[in-house]
Amino acid sequence: MNRYKMKASTRTIYGDAKVLDIREVGRPNLKEDEVLVRIHAATVNRTDVALLRGYPLIMRFFSGLRKPRLSITGTDFAGEIIEAGKHVTRFSVGERVWGFHDQGLQSHATYMRIPEKGNIESIPDGVEFSIAVASAEAAHYAINILNKITLEKGQQAMVHGATGAIGSACVQLLRANGLEVSATCRGEHAQIVHGLGADHTIDYTQEDFTRAPGSYDLVIDSVGKSTFNACKRILHKDGTYISSELGPGAQNLFFALSTPVLGGKKVIFPFPSNIKSSLSKMNALLTKGIFNPLIDRTYPLSEISSAFTYVASGQKIGNVLIADFS
Ligand SMILES: NC(=O)c1ccc[n+]([C@@H]2O[C@H](COP(=O)([O-])OP(=O)(O)OC[C@H]3O[C@@H](n4cnc5c(N)ncnc54)[C@H](OP(=O)(O)O)[C@@H]3O)[C@@H](O)[C@H]2O)c1
Repeated sequence: MNRYKMKASTRTIYGDAKVLDIREVGRPNLKEDEVLVRIHAATVNRTDVALLRGYPLIMRFFSGLRKPRLSITGTDFAGEIIEAGKHVTRFSVGERVWGFHDQGLQSHATYMRIPEKGNIESIPDGVEFSIAVASAEAAHYAINILNKITLEKGQQAMVHGATGAIGSACVQLLRANGLEVSATCRGEHAQIVHGLGADHTIDYTQEDFTRAPGSYDLVIDSVGKSTFNACKRILHKDGTYISSELGPGAQNLFFALSTPVLGGKKVIFPFPSNIKSSLSKMNALLTKGIFNPLIDRTYPLSEISSAFTYVASGQKIGNVLIADFS
């Protein structure tokens, strides 16, 4: 391939995986405050799927109202800096870096550019590209959920959907904070979820976790399949319910405004916040070996539409990676 060209997963309209096209496009031109990264690994995650579809519609205010603003897909990356703009001081050529941006980074490509002040961090020594990138999108949302509450050692937490990318990160982070963790998953995944640190598992295909014995300080629905009303009966009197989704009729937003004022059991909505801070926190956990992301399938860039279709099915186990960009 021409050295000024690269392969990329592109699209011109919103839609499902069929709108994707692997094309040879021009390598990005670098601005003076940017670095050029050769991508070694990226994920296809639920944020990528939402940006591909342009749904929920509210996201089109930043992703493009009628058509996508960014033609190349991809929200996270791990790779190596191969060029740095002349005003770049934080990073140097050869450095291993990773990052995430929920509005898109165009990382499903051989190369991408990013400002040095963007959501980019060095990868700690000894941490593989695949591990770093699988600790980006979902771990950020998990941190974002847990940041909204004061966690205390010995508290009891329930994670619904613990094999998902966000759920599996929540289980690990809750255990790292000393909580006793119960979790739901399909029966055949119980061993995986215990391996993440869960103390107890419930097979959600056999038993309704909101009717099972046990009560909790915190219920996290990481896949947005339950409701606050159904979970009330398993929450302690001042327990907290957090879902990764808005819920039927966006009720979780309404409850998040009303329940903290009323007192007692409450809903908190995890509005996304500081991504850079999540990356730094994950770097600290990866360095200490406290976090080990769950990785499911790995695809080459040439098969990215299959990766998108699998992720959109809502049945992936943890993270789906793209690892061959040739
Ligand atoms: N609020 C935000 O800013 C934000 C950002 C990103 C994503 N999200 C949302 O967060 C959710 C989770 O994302 P993710 O990437 O973590 O999900 P994911 O990895 O796609 O979750 C897949 C897992 O969900 C489990 N699952 C599927 N249906 C279930 C059900 N009815 N009950 C319990 N578990 C079920 C499956 O577990 P088993 O295989 O064990 O059955 C599967 O492993 C998505 O709905 C996504 O749209 C929200």
